[in-house]
Amino acid sequence: MAERRHSIHGMWTSRLAFILAVTGSAVGLGNIWKFPYVAGDSGGGAFVLIYLACVALVGLPIMMSEVLLGRRGRRNPITTMRDLGDEEAGQRFWQIVGWSGVIAGFLILSFYSVIAGWTLAYVPRMVTGGFANISPEGSEAAFGALVGDWEKLLGWHTLFMAMTVLVVARGVEKGLEAAVRYLMPALFTLLLVMMGYAMTIDWGTEALEAASGGSSPFMAGLSYLFSPDWSKVTPGIVIAALGQAFFTLSIGMGAVMTYGAYLPQRTSITNTTVTVVLADTAVAIVAGVIIFPIVFANGLDAGSGPGLVFQTLPLAFGSMAGGTVFGTLFFILLVFAAWTSSIGLIEPAVAWLVEKKNMTRGVAAWTVGGIIWILGLASIFSFNILSGFQPFGWEKTIFDMLDYLTSNIMLPMGGLLIAVFAGWVMSRNSTSEELAVGTGWIFQTWSFLTRYVAPLAVLAVFLNATGLLDGIIG
Ligand code: TRP
Repeated sequence: MAERRHSIHGMWTSRLAFILAVTGSAVGLGNIWKFPYVAGDSGGGAFVLIYLACVALVGLPIMMSEVLLGRRGRRNPITTMRDLGDEEAGQRFWQIVGWSGVIAGFLILSFYSVIAGWTLAYVPRMVTGGFANISPEGSEAAFGALVGDWEKLLGWHTLFMAMTVLVVARGVEKGLEAAVRYLMPALFTLLLVMMGYAMTIDWGTEALEAASGGSSPFMAGLSYLFSPDWSKVTPGIVIAALGQAFFTLSIGMGAVMTYGAYLPQRTSITNTTVTVVLADTAVAIVAGVIIFPIVFANGLDAGSGPGLVFQTLPLAFGSMAGGTVFGTLFFILLVFAAWTSSIGLIEPAVAWLVEKKNMTRGVAAWTVGGIIWILGLASIFSFNILSGFQPFGWEKTIFDMLDYLTSNIMLPMGGLLIAVFAGWVMSRNSTSEELAVGTGWIFQTWSFLTRYVAPLAVLAVFLNATGLLDGIIG
């Protein structure tokens, strides 16, 4: 056995702390804001089932691989991949995985922080009862007024980036772990309360009720999420489902690898990652089950894009008993969900600067935060003064492009390389030693998924999307 390395950033204090930290990074805007609107844009059921398959067959084995690599390397993802590549195969090429991950983290956080800013903006509006008895049109107009005002967006983006940097600057134990310990249980509780509410709502107008064929909005939401219409599946939808699986699990960019570097040697990787994947998936489904009934009950359009959650939920809060309190709590918790994720997006770069450039954690965190703050301007302007700027003849703003490039291309590519490295380049001795589950069925299943299923699935989705596969098969 190679001599054990040590992390210089300290360690998670318990198995639960690690689970909460990875769940904190996984559960975020991706589950509550992005999943419902991407599912809505992609027509519902069929997308959801493909997404679930991607999570189980591609996401889980890659997440296990990332933790395994991270714990073995015990460094930031760039150094870890360089060291392990060297140790296992005498190849330095693999550090590219770390580089692309750090860059993906910058790009994702640059737009993520802007959306997190929207959630911050909604907190004071809720507290002051600003949405009481609001109409669907009023809610749309209120959202439009926020995103149309770049100065407001800039203010909220600045606040959110500062919050992120403050936690990361405090370090693994006092910052990251302390933040997730209270925020995650609170988030789960509130989601369940909201789901109870969604089960009881009624149709907003008689016309909608008459058109419903007798089912409740809740049942209409469920059937939208789970009845697949396979005729609607296009290569674009498959790539969106794969991209969403990577995005929501925080994999493919070395974030989970970085968290794995702080994992004590004795903790089981299989148990912890399975727990995280189940929790993350449950939150996404519950978010859909909360949001779609509200969308349908109010006659809104499920395919209305990134504004979906910000226009629908205020309607529910505006009309329910205690809506001001629940609404306020809900947006606060959405802030928390985003916050525990943004920490994971920035940590790989911060760890790299601390380890390689000898910066203190504080200086490293403010430096990376400052760069990402500037990058965020591009996303801010995408919703107002640059909303008409859609280069390359693509119907996408800069924000849309950043989202597409990172989720649907960079993360799957990173995941593919991670799977190839863990499955093919590393020796079975090393992987089975690190996973510590012997060489029985658990190891065999992980190995099969990592070596064959995950890489081939990513490749097939890419080739299919570019039309190459049609040429080969047809
Ligand atoms: N998983 C996060 C969410 O669903 C977003 C995310 C993507 C992320 N990659 C990450 C978070 C890396 C932390 C680290 O909101």
